[in-house]
Amino acid sequence: MANILVTGGAGFIGSHTCVELLASGHEVIIVDNFSNSKPEALKRIKKISGKDVKFYETDILDLDGLNKIFDENRIDAVIHFAGLKAVGESVQKPVEYYHNNITGTLMLIQAMRAHDCKKIVFSSSATVYGVDNPVPYVETMPTHTATNPYGYTKVMIEQILRDVAVSDPEWSIVLLRYFNPIGSHKSGLLGEDPNGIPNNLFPYIQQVAIGKREYLGVFGNDYDTPDGTGVRDYIHVMDLASGHLCAVDYVLGHKGVEAVNLGTGKGSSVLDVLHAFEKACGKKLAYKIMPRRAGDIAWCYANTDKAKKLFGWEAKYGIDEMCTDGWNFIQKNPNGL
Ligand code: NAD
Ligand code: UD1
Repeated sequence: MANILVTGGAGFIGSHTCVELLASGHEVIIVDNFSNSKPEALKRIKKISGKDVKFYETDILDLDGLNKIFDENRIDAVIHFAGLKAVGESVQKPVEYYHNNITGTLMLIQAMRAHDCKKIVFSSSATVYGVDNPVPYVETMPTHTATNPYGYTKVMIEQILRDVAVSDPEWSIVLLRYFNPIGSHKSGLLGEDPNGIPNNLFPYIQQVAIGKREYLGVFGNDYDTPDGTGVRDYIHVMDLASGHLCAVDYVLGHKGVEAVNLGTGKGSSVLDVLHAFEKACGKKLAYKIMPRRAGDIAWCYANTDKAKKLFGWEAKYGIDEMCTDGWNFIQKNPNGL
């Protein structure tokens, strides 16, 4: 069992992954600055796992702070979630996004290198496939055409990590390209807790279901898809978490760089998700067709062969479980964590 440093471990995907790491016997050390999360998430991780987690409230831009964490702990591998992730905000604040995500990663790499820790799993995104590749997305496709600064931070960090591996073959790096993570831990104690009006589909539907918002705006019904609404590869956050466990095991035992998709390989439309949520919550949810959202694409789903081959991993849960668990969470936490 290994000591894993989890950056951004108080966030949505990080908190669920910490629960899985602890359940499988790993020691977890979390670093987060709570810029998009709350201390309550740490209490919930402890409550679910019954285990203690070491925590540092440190900004990953603070190199001295990072060095202190590595001085005080023997860290075998890092899972790097910390980053800003709102696509629209990244268009308004590109400098803040490039600084936080890219400089933060550079600081982390420096602290790791100084402490001879050269194993990292990085949170990348399907957004790196841009708009020109055909679905399903395969890891070998070119990834140079993101559509916004957030997406470019992922493209650039992937490149930086590849260059690091070329410069020193001792590094072991997995770039995990997530598709659309939704759902919650079964307990209803952890889940996604966005600030303000949700930008993403699933948290918006959750808020309609608990009566916080009147209706869902469906962004376009004239795409070239079966029902005209956008199709995405939604993946249960607990499947994503188990994918991280596989990736950690992989970096602990291998060298070099691998990019790996984490998706289900199946597409669901906006209306499919809405109807599955209606089934989960047992009521009709209002929606209105709106104009398309700038930058959206019609289709996005993964080819999942590589994750299966490299990790022996595949997603277990379908859209119905994602909705049941998401409904459980929002009922128990109508105002977030
Ligand atoms: P999140 O915002 O819930 O979690 C990110 C965490 O990082 C937060 O707790 C935040 O406080 C922390 N953080 C941000 N900047 C920091 C800094 N400078 N120092 C210390 N902590 C910092 O987001 P999430 O949905 O859990 O996403 C985790 C990662 O996965 C992100 O890198 C995101 O870009 C990536 N990702 C997310 C999705 C998605 O749909 N949620 C899809 C693809 C990729
Ligand atoms: C977006 C980002 C992606 C990021 C992810 C999670 C782009 C191109 N992609 O993915 O980089 O990792 O968010 O932060 O920006 N929809 C509605 N009504 C809503 C919200 C969404 O109809 O109120 C539709 C969208 O048009 C889309 C689908 O629902 O067809 C999913 O949208 P969303 O949850 O925002 O995820 P993505 O756009 O796929």
